Order: sequence, then structure tokens, then C-alpha cells
Amino acid sequence: STRKKIALIGAGNIGGELAALCARKELGDIVLFDIPAKADFAKGKALDLEQNSSVIGYDAKITGTSDWKDCAGADVVIITAGIPRKPGQSRDDLVATNLPIIRSVAAGVKEHCPDAFVIVISNPLDAMVYELKRATGLPRERVVGMAGVLDSARFQLFLAREANVSIKDVRAMVLGGHGDDMVPVLSATTINGVAATELIAREKLDAIIARTRTGGGEIVKLMGTSAYYAPASAAVAMAEAFLLDQKRLLPSAVYLDGEYGYKDLFMGVPVIIGGRGVEKILEIKLTDDEKAMLAKSAKSVQGITDVVKATPAT
Ligand code: APR
Repeated sequence: STRKKIALIGAGNIGGELAALCARKELGDIVLFDIPAKADFAKGKALDLEQNSSVIGYDAKITGTSDWKDCAGADVVIITAGIPRKPGQSRDDLVATNLPIIRSVAAGVKEHCPDAFVIVISNPLDAMVYELKRATGLPRERVVGMAGVLDSARFQLFLAREANVSIKDVRAMVLGGHGDDMVPVLSATTINGVAATELIAREKLDAIIARTRTGGGEIVKLMGTSAYYAPASAAVAMAEAFLLDQKRLLPSAVYLDGEYGYKDLFMGVPVIIGGRGVEKILEIKLTDDEKAMLAKSAKSVQGITDVVKATPAT
């Protein structure tokens, strides 16, 4: 096929929604990959989504598999393999379970999808995407973590509700690690260009920032598992930016090599995503306060990344 190929590694809640979105947007043919024990589950989901194409009207071939060969030559790989949080857990609590999973996925990507643009969603995000890049040896232009678009979306929703304005007019940016000390950048947060600080009182903003930081946990507590609609949309926005060479400015976890003063670490910063992958890392001006928050977040990310680095392959 001359269509683009999108391999979704993990056919669970986020994987399924990723497939549904990519299909509706006709971004390419879709492979839903999962472990052998869930191969039939992946096949069933794929069949359901293909039948859905007949109702909705989209052209996409969707297949389920547990064979890496079926992922060969993918243009985009989106990784959700791993277990999600349960109530009371932090993202970092997932590292022991998800590290061996990401390592096995990295081996598959390295062998079968060496030319793909890879988007990691599995948590703890910054450490998992670090390991994916380390284990595959892919260039940093081709490996990103999805967190900032989702965290910014949560921030934007709470701002829109508070200001009683359309969600379409709220632009915000959340940087740093995908943890409770993520950094909502108020200096880059506007309601169609009007500073959010002009429209929303400081105490309200502080409460919104606090809610954003625990926005994932709030849903885990309600549902017993983690969110999947917004995480899937966020990753698809990144995939689409690559596939359609949109050159979008999106906060993404990327490998830092001195930018913002951090080295050998994945963390969320504003980047341009286009047809060559991460085409540019933007070093925007941050206030002293924001720099301090970023340093705190980086410290947490470094801590969990060090755990990953110190864990030998089994
Ligand atoms: N290869 C491929 N898939 C795997 C592997 C593996 N080695 N190990 C586990 N999986 C699959 C599981 O079988 C499951 O179907 O990953 C899927 C994960 O799906 P869900 O349990 O529904 O989890 P989901 O909500 O999609 O979240 C996945 O994303 O946001 C993060 O914290 C979340 O780490 C979690 C991940």
C-alpha cells in the first residue's frame, strides 16, 4: 500500500481510541499490536473499527496482531504498552512494571520500525521515552513523549470554564515533566491573545494550576483507570503534525542536550513538529518563578530517569 502506516503498540483503552481517531482522520492504515495473550482482543477491536468505517465512511485498513512483522515499515509508532495507574498510585509507581515492557517494545521498534516517528505515551512518561530512545538508538528528532499537549488541554479546559469563554479561544502551555510538579507557563497563557491573568483572579488561577497538576489523578480516582480520550487526541495531534508536515508548535517531551540548561534528559518543552519529526526545540523566555518550577520538575524527572538507567536488563 502507498498509504501511510501507523503502528499502535498496546491495543487497550488509549490504543483503541488512537485507532478510532487515526481512522476517522484517514491518516493511514492502522496496525493494533498487543501481547500474544491479547492478540485476539486486538483483532476483534480492529474488526469492529473496520466495520465502523462502513457506517462513518473512512478508508483505512485496520488489523490486529501480536507479530512485530506486521508493524514493519511503519511511518508512525505510538506506544501505550504498559499498565495504567490505579487510584492512589503515582505515575512513577508504574516504573517497575512498565520498564521491562518498554524495553521489549524498543527491541521491536529497533528491528522492525527503524524509520518511524515514535510517540511514547506509557508512564512514567519522561523516563519511558528516555529508555525508548536509549534502547533503540533512534535520533532525537524521531522520538517524542506525549504529555504537554494533554496537560495543556486540561489547563485550557479549567481556564475556559472559569472565564466562561469558549474552549477554542484558550491557549496555554504546560512544560516540564509529566508529574505533579509540571509547569503551567502563565506567561504563555492567553484567551485569544488576552493574558489569562487579566481575566482570571490570581487565587482562581492558583486553584486551576493545582487541579491541572493532578488532572490525571482526578480521573484515575473517578474511573479506577487512567484517561484515554484526551491522551489519544493529544498523541494524534502530534502524529498528524508529522504526517502532514504541519510544523505545529506543541509542548512535547524531547531529549534535551543543553536546552534550558538540561542534558541527557527527556522533559516537556515547546517544539516544532513537522515532516522531519522534531524540527526545532524552542527556548522561550521564562520568568524566574517558572525557571524555578522547571528546575523542580527536572529534578523529579532526573530521579525516575536515574532509576531506569540503574536497572539492568533482565
Ligand atoms: N507489547 C505490547 N502491548 C503490551 C505489552 C507489550 N510488551 N505489555 C502490555 N501491553 C498492552 C496490554 O496488554 C494492554 O492491552 O498494553 C495495553 C495497555 O492498555 P490499557 O491497560 O487499557 O492501558 P491504557 O489506558 O491504554 O494506558 C496505557 O498509557 O497513559 C499511559 O499510564 C498509562 O502506562 C499507561 C499506558
